[in-house]
Amino acid sequence: VTGAAEWGESTRAVHLPPPPVPEQTSLGLPVWRTAAFAFSGPEEFAELLAGTRPGYSYSRIANPTTDAFAAGVAALEGHGVPGEVAGETFASGMGAISAIVFALCRSGSHVVGSREVYGGTYGLLSHVLTRFGVSVDLVDTGDPAVVRSAVRAETVLIYAETLANPTMSVADLPALAEVAHEAGLPLVVDSTFATPVVCRPLAHGADLVVHSATKYLGGHGDVTGGVVAGRAELVRRVAAMRTELGAALSPDDGFLLHRGLATLPLRMERHCASALAFAEATGTHPRVRRVDYPGLSTHRDHALATKLFNPGRFGGVVTVTVEGGRAGAAALCQRLRLAVVASSLGSHRTKVSPVATTTHRQLDDAALAAARINPGAVRFSIGLEDPEDIVDDVLKALDGLDEG
Ligand SMILES: Cc1ncc(COP(=O)(O)O)c(C=O)c1O
Repeated sequence: VTGAAEWGESTRAVHLPPPPVPEQTSLGLPVWRTAAFAFSGPEEFAELLAGTRPGYSYSRIANPTTDAFAAGVAALEGHGVPGEVAGETFASGMGAISAIVFALCRSGSHVVGSREVYGGTYGLLSHVLTRFGVSVDLVDTGDPAVVRSAVRAETVLIYAETLANPTMSVADLPALAEVAHEAGLPLVVDSTFATPVVCRPLAHGADLVVHSATKYLGGHGDVTGGVVAGRAELVRRVAAMRTELGAALSPDDGFLLHRGLATLPLRMERHCASALAFAEATGTHPRVRRVDYPGLSTHRDHALATKLFNPGRFGGVVTVTVEGGRAGAAALCQRLRLAVVASSLGSHRTKVSPVATTTHRQLDDAALAAARINPGAVRFSIGLEDPEDIVDDVLKALDGLDEG
């Protein structure tokens, strides 16, 4: 019927000939930039929506381009992991995390999480979930005994970050998995800072791994997205909640994130190597009080990181603490020429944020201390520039602090 000669101009313009369906495989990922799919008739439509027939119906439910990205992350995170590992995508990291918690919690549920989590996650767990009758205990997940004693009959999940923001504390994944599985609970791990190139939590016993794909997976700071990978049955429950909540990834962003995966190992190798050089160089500067980077033997979780992480990889974020509290942190940021003061992390550009006044502004000094953060902390997301230039920039800025 397409282009029927008797139709008027507007009808013919709307009903153009259908695109070719190539027999050959496209090497580039096609972008199925569509909200909706068409069916042979009402029966196929109904069966698709009922889930009794495989296929695509509506891009909030599933889309082939975003599915390609999900499958890519599932393959990387699930490498060597027994059983079926599935992936699902989301409009943002918080979209993914909220779909997980709403899928697993109901009124009366209890969540045990790490004290050291991203501020947005802290807000979701502490302020949003609690309005729906869910109780939350954020504890020192570095001590498995503390986690075990926080678990109650109503607990539905244990939540931690592989590498915590900004202290780069390392989660003891096998110990946390043991506590979770003893109690029949899933261990959910945010691995945004690590990526599967540094650590694969599913291989260490986690049941679900979640990423803000906005960071390293995309890698260029031009996409907002989230992704979950893990035990297929759990991932399906989370995807069903995404359909209800609506935080679906756009096909265009799915394309960019899928493309990002191809260079993820190369980029991470460079991020990690430059971050180690940066941590070593800043660690000996007289104006520096402390450097948090698990690649340094002085970091309290160095041994754990060495045990759990892929050899020689400790992530691309380094937190440098200077004297002078918030004013000292601001002065250091102000003196940097290459590193840009910016939100987010994990992109090709070196980015910097004074922790106490930006990413962790919700915490007062006591809460900062509990999270092991000094007000003089500055978080560096080490980019892909020449490492000598990044190091030179920070050393000059630190030297400049002496000039007042
Ligand atoms: C560790 C971590 N998890 C989750 C998020 C949230 O991701 P998004 O901003 O993509 O929603 C962030 C954002 O900074 C993060 O750093």
